[in-house]
Amino acid sequence: MSIIFDEKRKIFKLDTPNSTYAIKIFEGGYLLHIYYGKRLNDTNLDFMIPSTIDVSYSPRAKSVLSDPDFSTDIKPMEYSVNGTGDYRVSALQIRAACGNASTDIRYKSHKIYKGKYSLPGLPATYANTEDEADTLEIVTEDVHTGAVVTLYYGVFNCYDAITRAVKVENTGKEPFEIERIFSTCVHFNRMDMDMIGLWGSWARERTPARRPLEHGIREVKSKRGSSSHYHNPFVALCDHNATEQLGEAYGFSFVYSGNFSAQCEVDAYCQTRMIMGLEDTDFGWHMECGETFYAPEVVMAYSDEGLGGMSRVYHKLYRYNLCRGKYKTAKRPLLVNNWEGTYMDFTGDKLVSIAKDASELGIELFVLDDGWFGERNDDKSSLGDWFVNEKKLGRTMGELASEINALGLKFGLWFEPEMISPISKLYEAHPDWCLHVGERERSEARHQLILDMSREDVRDYLVDTISNILDNANIEYIKWDFNRNLTEVGSALLPPERQKELFHRYVLGLYDLNERLLKKYPYLLLEGCSGGGGRFDPGMLYYVPQVWASDDSDAMERIRIQYGTSFVYPASTISAHVSAVPNHQTGRITSFETRGNIAMAGAFGYELDLNKLTDEERALVREQVANYHKYYDIIQNGDLYRIISPFENDRLAAWEYVSGDKREVLFTFAVMRGFFPTTVQIKLPGLDPELVYVDQKTGKEYSGSALMYGGLQMANDDYMVNGFSRRDGYSEIVYLKAK
Ligand code: DGJ
Repeated sequence: MSIIFDEKRKIFKLDTPNSTYAIKIFEGGYLLHIYYGKRLNDTNLDFMIPSTIDVSYSPRAKSVLSDPDFSTDIKPMEYSVNGTGDYRVSALQIRAACGNASTDIRYKSHKIYKGKYSLPGLPATYANTEDEADTLEIVTEDVHTGAVVTLYYGVFNCYDAITRAVKVENTGKEPFEIERIFSTCVHFNRMDMDMIGLWGSWARERTPARRPLEHGIREVKSKRGSSSHYHNPFVALCDHNATEQLGEAYGFSFVYSGNFSAQCEVDAYCQTRMIMGLEDTDFGWHMECGETFYAPEVVMAYSDEGLGGMSRVYHKLYRYNLCRGKYKTAKRPLLVNNWEGTYMDFTGDKLVSIAKDASELGIELFVLDDGWFGERNDDKSSLGDWFVNEKKLGRTMGELASEINALGLKFGLWFEPEMISPISKLYEAHPDWCLHVGERERSEARHQLILDMSREDVRDYLVDTISNILDNANIEYIKWDFNRNLTEVGSALLPPERQKELFHRYVLGLYDLNERLLKKYPYLLLEGCSGGGGRFDPGMLYYVPQVWASDDSDAMERIRIQYGTSFVYPASTISAHVSAVPNHQTGRITSFETRGNIAMAGAFGYELDLNKLTDEERALVREQVANYHKYYDIIQNGDLYRIISPFENDRLAAWEYVSGDKREVLFTFAVMRGFFPTTVQIKLPGLDPELVYVDQKTGKEYSGSALMYGGLQMANDDYMVNGFSRRDGYSEIVYLKAK
């Protein structure tokens, strides 16, 4: 059992293989956080509770007799509440029926059991077997409202990951309002750390930003109704000198796809509090007697092997204990998507002709993107009208799928289920089905409005119309797009006191729709998308095992986007395609080899008109397809080591996958800008120093220790012969196997 309770000291000790998290039930039932970090041996930990040092402006809880200066404003509160003396950021605020919001939770009981808790209606990590994880539930009660607040802790035995979630129940006789509920709150007796967030925008998602903590509050959040391009629901805290390989790093990742906030406060005593959960600007949850509310899960990862170690915890956990379904482990089909090849300008014959080339080249899945339904030939209409445009296709969808299947390919289709175009049959019939506020103007983005996913009738309509397509054509893949953020977040059905619930109800509705479709069509491979990677989060990964990482398909830009994405998300989730040049987003021309080498670092595919390839390019596709199969296991299941960051220099980037037994290594090196004239020697971490590795292309042999401590030489040996051969856009993959 990875969770122990020391009855005498009243201390819970939660252990993963290399980390410990400790909580104390203090006098008066206050829960104090004692420690989170490298694994500890025993529960003799009381000495770590900071003594109360200054109480002049920090109210005292006089009921704590052993420490008459006890103040929640200074102590390391395990789950901070508002209005009763703790002035730092609070995780919970409950407003009682009388109008007051002084919240004060105290310990009541606890439960420890094998296996991992689950959260009804919400995505969460899970244990494949009971032995993989244990759960601690600490039940507390709010003194004021009688709200029963249960703190959940999931402790993984195989990874250094601890999860948190919260349940609130109204077991009393009066309703109350949850005004703010964060899922985790962690205290550190230090402030000498850096905070890292992943910011971005359309076409440049997930750029790591690292800054030292300072006094005050730093926040990363989304109020857009989706996790967003702008800030990923992830934050890391790490030692100032932590690198990819060394130092302590803590990750906080929110298993949620809507509004979120991660706040890190350094107080006057140089202590740090990290909270993460639902963003509360327009959040509230009305709790009638007998009702229950669950706050989504936060996954905390710890490593003392730097940021790389932290990422590898997430990669394994999200790959094997978050993603589900057939394609969690089944090999993903290598796909071609027609979006950048044709956009919406296609006929059925053109699609079949691309599929013919795909079949000859060894591609396994053909994906028909936007433009096949309603009257949709541009982005101005038809979202919601999920009826096949047979005139445009020149055949039914069933016939198209059959023709493509006959070529030996699977067939996949694009949907944007959550949207409605004001120019559509659906809008004519149901103008009140979109998010809106009375007669006020409905803001459009990309000429579209958003369906009210909190409504059951809307979700029923979507299940019916999507099922109708799936039942009449052999469709094995769906690309699930989402191309705008929420505005005028009002529902025609919710009563006024529940309108504040709509942001969250929207996300619950989205999850419900995904779940219903996956239950009905369990063989489907879903790919997430949101104008590229605008909803790339662990919540979606519970339903979709891969996400289109960015609408920027330029290989040089993708180096950065994929590098940043890899802070949390495994390669198996990062959908990456080879597209045409000049690149449609940047105008840049990059070699076909490099476009393949960079896309190879994810869920690989093509996104161009295969009919336009030259013979030379077709030969390269065949080579890439062969490499895709050769490298599949090591990329999808191996350990990633980031080696040269494209954010720390503008010239070079390098990364590597190492197989679990360390006998295989796949190293990628890219020159992003400028000219690479001489030699770069790059140390390869994570190998076995005792093994001898053979370069599979050249047959050269290297000892593991020499590669690890000396490095592999990327010498420009073509330089004298071919001139400036290794410059902008050059890349190389080196595949090493142990002898
Ligand atoms: C945005 C996506 O990111 C693209 O890949 C494509 O599917 C378009 N939407 C289609 O409208």
